[in-house]
Amino acid sequence: MRNKARQTVAAGMRSFEHLLPASTSQAELLDTVRRLNRDPAVHGILVQLPLPSHLAEDEVIEAIDPAKDVDGFHPINVGRLSIGAPALVPCTPYGCTLLIREAVADPTGLHAVIVGRSNIVGKPMAQLLLAMNCTVTIAHSRTRDLPGLARQADILVAAVGRPEMVRGDWIKPGACVIDVGINRVPAAEPGKTRLVGDVAFAEAAEVAGAITPVPGGVGPMTIACLLRNTVVAACRARGIDIPADL
Ligand code: GUN
Repeated sequence: MRNKARQTVAAGMRSFEHLLPASTSQAELLDTVRRLNRDPAVHGILVQLPLPSHLAEDEVIEAIDPAKDVDGFHPINVGRLSIGAPALVPCTPYGCTLLIREAVADPTGLHAVIVGRSNIVGKPMAQLLLAMNCTVTIAHSRTRDLPGLARQADILVAAVGRPEMVRGDWIKPGACVIDVGINRVPAAEPGKTRLVGDVAFAEAAEVAGAITPVPGGVGPMTIACLLRNTVVAACRARGIDIPADL
């Protein structure tokens, strides 16, 4: 959240933070969202997840005006993405597509395997890769022979939240590997921690054609896409044509 606010301001937008206590009621949170819906100075609304367990996440997401839903989590935007209509698209998977386009000249017909079926990453990632004409498989914790399936992937997206679960021998030689995981693990030095992805980077980098590091790979793209979505939402609100390269 700190990075999101900082980069929003660095990009020349205003960032309004509403830091509510963990004890906030559902009604208070909904009231905050609805106030922001009505505020013409606000083009994008993001409710950082996860919410404390006493709050109903679905109801909060559905309270966000879909035109201001810069996370792309509202069912209207989820539905629009699935039918190929103009939508605000979830930031992390959208950022992954930009990285994939850098590494893969023509994704048409390639087998993309996504490990993880979350609403935030796995499912929208599948829609975006389908729209890029990939053949898409969504794998998850119950998938049989996950390593064998991963080895079939021309594009492998790891979004499970398990530190270094994807090993080097899961990777097809030359594959494009996108690591969405951000896991904090104990460092060699006692009392310290470090960040690792869902992919064992050093092993995988020996086999992959292209691979994203953690940190510094997908994470910065998520924030860039959040800013992009906010510009898109602002343009639509004002009836301004969205630049083709945005
Ligand atoms: N929690 C983890 N990832 C995200 C995200 O992309 N958006 C929001 N709002 N919460 C998150």
